[in-house]
Amino acid sequence: MSENKNKKMVRSFNGLTASEWASLSKSVWNDVSSPREWYHIEHGATFSVALAERAIKIYSKIGDTVLDPFLGVGTTLVAAKNLGRNGYGFEVYKKFYDITKDLLSQEKLPLTDFNPNIKIYNEDCRNLLRYVPEETIQLTFTSPPYANFIHRSVKDRRETHKESLLVKANRSVVKPYGDDSRDFGNLEYDDYLKEIEALMKKIFQVTKPGGYNIWVVKDHRDPQNGKPLIPLHVDIANVGEKAGFIWHDLIIWDQNAQRKLVVLGYPSVFYVNINHTFLVVLRKPQLKRDKK
Ligand SMILES: C[S@@+](CC[C@H](N)C(=O)[O-])C[C@H]1O[C@@H](n2cnc3c(N)ncnc32)[C@H](O)[C@@H]1O
Repeated sequence: MSENKNKKMVRSFNGLTASEWASLSKSVWNDVSSPREWYHIEHGATFSVALAERAIKIYSKIGDTVLDPFLGVGTTLVAAKNLGRNGYGFEVYKKFYDITKDLLSQEKLPLTDFNPNIKIYNEDCRNLLRYVPEETIQLTFTSPPYANFIHRSVKDRRETHKESLLVKANRSVVKPYGDDSRDFGNLEYDDYLKEIEALMKKIFQVTKPGGYNIWVVKDHRDPQNGKPLIPLHVDIANVGEKAGFIWHDLIIWDQNAQRKLVVLGYPSVFYVNINHTFLVVLRKPQLKRDKK
């Protein structure tokens, strides 16, 4: 067999052809919005199915298993099911777990022959080792609560921005998920990062060697307390590295087309509108020599 023919038969780890691989390799994604249904608005902090599908296509193949420890209304696992991947998900609030269960039970035309096995739990994700076997996860794709930032931002909007475009033009639906003490959204930032690090260690245990762990996070501001920028994406990457992952890539989800610009800090301090979210791509080392 000629060398060229041999090359053509190479199978990529995700099943993509070389041209699909190249076309998905943009570092800024601005084409992954999908329609918002009532349950996305009900939840208030979801990402799009198109975003999850893009990541799942890139970082896993049909028949692999995907994990979302912070399930919300199940966007990651809906995307996993659509693409023939197995899945595990954890959600602490029953109201969101029930919506996910409902969405996953809806029959759709399968896009693949593989019939995925999806398991969801109305549970604290800190208990994931009870349910997920070691070294079985190819991809974790998740968006965590941002510590107690939602509580702060709700207060801020109530007191300062209630008439502003930030609330009106962008149809902001920011609201806390609830008051459950297990909810990472009710933690102070320092405690939050400690809990995230402990969770990262568990995710490391269940991830296959060479598997990926992607966190969808937005940076924040707290100028009243002397912090014009809280670089959450860097902090998440750092705790991921402490847990053993390698910071592998950084993708920007550009949301400018979905959001109107608002005036911030005028006329004394200039701030940009943070209209992008980061995908922090971490990877478990594959071979001993990959380890630091
Ligand atoms: C940013 S939302 C995720 C939204 C999700 N990506 C979607 O598109 O539906 C974070 C979710 O984590 C949940 N959560 C918070 N603490 C948790 C915990 N300890 N275990 C499991 N879920 C938790 C919250 O209730 C919330 O629904």
